[in-house]
Amino acid sequence: MREPGRSSDLLEILGPAELSGRVAVSGAKNAALPALAASLLLPGKLELSGVPQLADVETACRLLERLGSEVTRSGDRILCSTPEDLPGEEAPLELVRRMRASVLVLGPLLARRGQARVPLPGGCAIGARPIDQHLAGLEALGAEIRLEHGWVEARAPRLRGTRFRFGIETVTGTENLVMAAVLAEGTTVLERAAREPEVVNLVELLRSAGARIEGEGTDEIRIEGVPELRPVGQHRILPDRIEAGTFLIAAALAGTSVRVEGIRSQDLESVLLALHDAGLEVETGPDAVAIGRRGPLRPRDVVTAPHPGFPTDLQAQWMVLMSQAGGTSTVVETIFEHRFGHVAELARLGASIEVAGPRARVQGPRRLQGAEVCATDLRASAALVLAGLVAEGRTTVEGLHHLDRGYADLEGKLASLGARIRRISTPARHEGLLTTGGSGL
Ligand code: EPZ
Repeated sequence: MREPGRSSDLLEILGPAELSGRVAVSGAKNAALPALAASLLLPGKLELSGVPQLADVETACRLLERLGSEVTRSGDRILCSTPEDLPGEEAPLELVRRMRASVLVLGPLLARRGQARVPLPGGCAIGARPIDQHLAGLEALGAEIRLEHGWVEARAPRLRGTRFRFGIETVTGTENLVMAAVLAEGTTVLERAAREPEVVNLVELLRSAGARIEGEGTDEIRIEGVPELRPVGQHRILPDRIEAGTFLIAAALAGTSVRVEGIRSQDLESVLLALHDAGLEVETGPDAVAIGRRGPLRPRDVVTAPHPGFPTDLQAQWMVLMSQAGGTSTVVETIFEHRFGHVAELARLGASIEVAGPRARVQGPRRLQGAEVCATDLRASAALVLAGLVAEGRTTVEGLHHLDRGYADLEGKLASLGARIRRISTPARHEGLLTTGGSGL
């Protein structure tokens, strides 16, 4: 796996591009992370296949090793084995800071060891992202939770089944509580549970280990606690619907005819409908979607929502598409409070977007011109790459450490469709100053 991008790497894109051909998506980051956390619950070895080679997956593997698991990685396979008496119960701060999804070890550690110590994950560029729902749910299951000096100290000799209603749909909150409940005494019912396909994929893994769960994919999940789980042979990580959606939007922007393979179209219904309404020809097959232009791009409003609504992780990419549509469209972000970091950078390329609170109005069509831009978060970085595909001239995108957390070789996959894109490793800018005796910045 390529080392995660250094923060001084940048992508150079020469536009406008014309994309055609076929591209296969990798496994879903947001399914791999909970599956890795679930390995803490399982005796024996767990082999995961279809795991994307990403910085966040690397971080999750290091976290498991720090907790005492043995992890071996080869290509898209990861083998984890957790010793009977799991020695670790503390997630190190530096790993949680790097990846807030580390909070997913809380439920498994509590269920397996009866205690856990995890730093409170700080907020990030897209919002405060509290974990109050995770903690309230664990307390409802009988855990004693103390917050001290920025750490979550959780103890529970034995978790007891309960009925818990989330105050907001939370994907990792649902995953954490499902994992905590599988070994609890009695039955747990989670109301207003997240319905994302990644939650369903986690439940499939746990069920293959003997967990008794029903209702995944709906807003009510019922878990009947069992005394122990059994080893699982192999579990396949589901394909990444957000990476797939990113490629579909790239094809809508710059494609003549592109086929995105290895995706389950049912996981992207809201996006496929929006693409159709925006004037694209969308042809769905059992595990692929083909997309082509059938006329001028039309403006199409979107409002992000929990699954099966329009995914917040495709909001930035959609905004780029709407900058090319013939008219004004509105994009409303209802999940995160600060997820418009890409707007200012898109404006540098020539996009015309007005933001008022959670609402962005995108004027189109706008001719984009290549420029130097900088990513602020994972999906913003993907949106800037897409904008570079349609902008005239040279665009460089900095901040690739964001991109490398969630996309495996995005530039290679786009190049295989005909994009003129390459990664340039540049010495970190300030190094020049230091070596030439310049004043520190
Ligand atoms: C998951 O994050 C994904 N990450 C995110 O993907 C995705 O954007 C998000 O779900 C929404 O779909 C993983 O699955 C690892 P939430 P998660 O808990 O679970 C609030 C990407 O780009 N909330 O569903 O952390 C929260 O502040 C990443 O791949 C609480 O208030 O998101 C947010 O406003 C980014 N209290 C909303 O709920 C809580 O206890 C949804 O958050 C938990 C969440």
